[in-house]
Amino acid sequence: MTATPATLSSAPAAFITLEGGEGSGKSTQAKLLAAALAERGVRAVLTREPGGSPEAEAIRSLLVEGAVDRWDPMSEALLLFAARRDHLRRTIRPALDAGTWVICDRFGDSTLAYQGYAHGLGAEVIDNLAAIAIGGFRPDLTLILDLPVEIGLERARSREAGREDRFERMGAAFHQRLRDGFLDIARKEPARCKVIDAARPIEAIHADILAHVLAHRPETAVRA
Ligand code: TMP
Repeated sequence: MTATPATLSSAPAAFITLEGGEGSGKSTQAKLLAAALAERGVRAVLTREPGGSPEAEAIRSLLVEGAVDRWDPMSEALLLFAARRDHLRRTIRPALDAGTWVICDRFGDSTLAYQGYAHGLGAEVIDNLAAIAIGGFRPDLTLILDLPVEIGLERARSREAGREDRFERMGAAFHQRLRDGFLDIARKEPARCKVIDAARPIEAIHADILAHVLAHRPETAVRA
């Protein structure tokens, strides 16, 4: 969606995802990260899920609008993987192949947390679907923005009124399972997943995210 200046580095482009519950501030942080990388001469595409390609954006509307019980959890997961496969094929892979970093607002960990943990499909089912749909493709680095459920839902509800609130309406118990799910994912994959305390000012969160990215790709810090 947004492109920034070209990088001279020969290191492979990084695929970085931001994850978290409702109202965790991922979208704001994704933009701040893209801007900080641009300042360092790193070209990055900013994208999101569900969506990130025209066909996947069409599937997004089916998922985020309408009645809570519109889809059963498995149908939801299948739609998400259909969207993800298209997004990967048309947006993410071409960018990475061209040496452009990709910063993605949500990716596979959202399916694991929302459909796997919170809806109860389980990790094995989600991992199997990921293997079939996208060959198990994974991010290089994942920042999980963590905050108490009630703060996140309050923030999400105070955003401008929109139609994309199907998941927000799923109830506090769902969102608590979701938060616990993201924390469990981080515990299981500590090298890839970094938990960030998102109940702090925007600048403090950004500083933590940037520090993790620069630690992951030290050659980027040198260019600052
Ligand atoms: P967003 O509000 O962060 O753009 O995300 C849209 C909604 O889609 C959000 O409520 C979470 C949900 N979602 C899933 O349930 N599973 C997924 O795999 C993804 C990517 C999003």
